[in-house]
Amino acid sequence: MKVEITKSGYEKLKNRMPWIYHNEIKKHIEYKGIVDLVYKNKFVAVAFYNPVSKISARVLSFEKIVVDKEFFEYRIKRAIKKRKTLEHITNSFRLIHSEADFLPGLIVDKYGDNLVVSFTTAGIDSFKGIIIEILIELLNPKGIYEKGDKIREKEGLEVINQTLYGKVDDEFIIKENSKKFVTFLKEGQKTGFFLDQRKNRRIVGEYGNKKTLDLFSNAGGFGIYANANFTKFVEISPLACSLIERNCKLNNLENYEIVRDDVFKFLEREKDVYDLIIIDPPAFAKTKASRKGAIRGWKYLIVNSLKLLEDGGYLALFSCSHAISNKDLIDLALSSSIIDNSYLEVIEFLKQDLDHPYLINIPNSLYLTGVLFKKEKL
Ligand SMILES: C[S@@+](CC[C@H](N)C(=O)[O-])C[C@H]1O[C@@H](n2cnc3c(N)ncnc32)[C@H](O)[C@@H]1O
Repeated sequence: MKVEITKSGYEKLKNRMPWIYHNEIKKHIEYKGIVDLVYKNKFVAVAFYNPVSKISARVLSFEKIVVDKEFFEYRIKRAIKKRKTLEHITNSFRLIHSEADFLPGLIVDKYGDNLVVSFTTAGIDSFKGIIIEILIELLNPKGIYEKGDKIREKEGLEVINQTLYGKVDDEFIIKENSKKFVTFLKEGQKTGFFLDQRKNRRIVGEYGNKKTLDLFSNAGGFGIYANANFTKFVEISPLACSLIERNCKLNNLENYEIVRDDVFKFLEREKDVYDLIIIDPPAFAKTKASRKGAIRGWKYLIVNSLKLLEDGGYLALFSCSHAISNKDLIDLALSSSIIDNSYLEVIEFLKQDLDHPYLINIPNSLYLTGVLFKKEKL
């Protein structure tokens, strides 16, 4: 099957951006599956094609290839090999990260002998059987669980949660550096744990000393790494709060408090002073349209956190939305520091860990950015 793309689509592919939007296809056809993308009758790329989706084509290769078991085996093996160095640090990591591992729509997370997978595009979903077969052959897992992602609806697919193979642990202990975290593989957010923050937890944790405030803590990763004399966790989800409690016990934290509340309300009343504050909220703005509200929310969080941060203390900010960039975080920190009458020095620029690759030909693959600041008063 051939699908003709527009000039703008062709220009994008020349720069190896692998997505073709609905309006970048000259004439849609009634078909779903593997196609050759062509421009002026010349072959450009092999892609998954799904006219139902806003992203109607996702490139698999810029060369003529056959998409068969061997093709998937090669790419999966390549992704597995890339993660070898992580095996010394942790028993849990992302093995396959969609386009950033040249497998559009395929997410595979490894938790010890368990695999948690998501198929987020119709293209990859149609190869589910083959992919599961390969994962079993290469990794011999105890079980494979499919986690349904809402994104599937945009591809005209049903959201399914199911065991695809063997038996998957309901509960699993992640061992990461010298820390341990309990996680529920079938219920937790994302595919169970925020694996992408692994390296940042270690870097930021090194600045923990006297009193740490971990805002939007989820399972408590940052606060636990910080291992301060006292840690306060603020998290709204009851399930996440129960995980923080268990993780504090697992890691022998003695002085801590878990506040189950909305961070915005908590900051209105909080009076304690800290030497490390982490702000890692969910994506307030998923699109450019909701950016204004997100900027306002962020400003409130930074201004009020700076009030609680002592002179010489550290502030870590993370954004997991493309709508709020690293530059936005710096701009927001600057305007907030002026209100606080303090200066902020950049200690580290941070991003998602290496098992969630950032390929420069796919700008969207940089989805988590952060900055660690030191506050100083003159
Ligand atoms: C990006 S996650 C934090 C990840 C965590 N820092 C880690 O490294 O594992 C955001 C967390 O904020 C929580 N959350 C969302 N809105 C909140 C609010 N208004 N107040 C408190 N927590 C909130 C979510 O339940 C989620 O656990």
